[in-house]
Amino acid sequence: MHVLHVVGARPNFMKAAPVYRALASRGHEQTLVHTGQHYDAQMSDVFFKELDIPEPNENLNVGSGSHAQQTASIMSRFEPVVLARVPDIVLVYGDVNSTVAAALVCSKIGIRIGHVESGLRSFDRSMPEEINRLLTDQLADMLFTPSADGDENLVREGIAKDKVFFVGNVMIDTLIRLLPRADAVFPKLKAELSLDSFGLITLHRPSNVDDEAVFLTMLEVLDSLSQELPLIFPVHPRTHMKWSARLEKCNPNLRVIDPLGYPEFLALQKHAKVVITDSGGIQEESTYLGTPCLTLRENTERPITVTMGTNVLIGRNWELLRNRFYLALNATHERKIPPPLWDGKAADRIAGILSR
Ligand code: UD1
Repeated sequence: MHVLHVVGARPNFMKAAPVYRALASRGHEQTLVHTGQHYDAQMSDVFFKELDIPEPNENLNVGSGSHAQQTASIMSRFEPVVLARVPDIVLVYGDVNSTVAAALVCSKIGIRIGHVESGLRSFDRSMPEEINRLLTDQLADMLFTPSADGDENLVREGIAKDKVFFVGNVMIDTLIRLLPRADAVFPKLKAELSLDSFGLITLHRPSNVDDEAVFLTMLEVLDSLSQELPLIFPVHPRTHMKWSARLEKCNPNLRVIDPLGYPEFLALQKHAKVVITDSGGIQEESTYLGTPCLTLRENTERPITVTMGTNVLIGRNWELLRNRFYLALNATHERKIPPPLWDGKAADRIAGILSR
């Protein structure tokens, strides 16, 4: 069997790596196509080395643009590549523009599509990712879900049950595999950043960082919380591009740094007193690690991180943020039982199903 993987943005790489490895161990032919949606070394190259996956066979170098430009550009550059490579199936990951663009191309030329991390829904169509999820799932032939809510969503949307496979969470496969490496880098990182007790922030959603009034209010609240507990803030390029001048004026306890590599970021997540984020993947990773996660969004496509994990939806309720922050400050981490099939073997299950 020849499997072609499409990756494009940072969170894709951690999801594709274990699937690539599991298929390699079964001897399948594989092609890795990078769309180039993310292109900075710190957002892309670094992960291929750290995740032990080969360099992409092709890079479409699409770069940034409006949603329409980026999606269209991936489609027109991907079509000749997939036609030339003739895979038996194309695997797409998560919910980024690269995911839906590749799925659209394959569906029109009759190439089978597998969607890894299928079925997640925030029920908020103002999020570009929700549109990407809905469309990709409608087009996919095999839908691999990380949690049972995914199966329920898909069946409700009319997708045949026999196309849906509850396999668990591939992102957690990567976390489990690289936790020892995270533990190994932590002492050096701790010394470099002069860390004792600390919290961790990530913010990149357009709904949080694109609007001046929203972002500046959020930053003021975070700035004041950092007086109680130093907060490390590795800044996503989207946030940096818009707010670098303002971020320089934060108080020194709000530590603005460049994006980190995977083991380093994982180490910080594990040891942070609290994580404040608007990322999807971090809600899952912190649930697995038992680190309290305060999500600056009104909804989540990963409800299991709230019902079974450490995640609390804060939205823009600053009083709730403060309350939960102080609770976390005085708590010790309570590692809960991970959600079903978040066990490090999700990619193996996918490879097993594909091999049948
Ligand atoms: C994308 C995904 C989002 C995911 C996030 C993870 C979509 C619609 N969004 O958002 O779901 O959570 O990746 O990081 O696919 N930029 C750089 N260097 C890079 C990449 C981006 O400077 O390597 C800057 C560019 O100015 C670009 C902006 O960041 O315009 C946004 O990048 P883009 O890929 O459009 O969306 P993200 O916000 O990264």
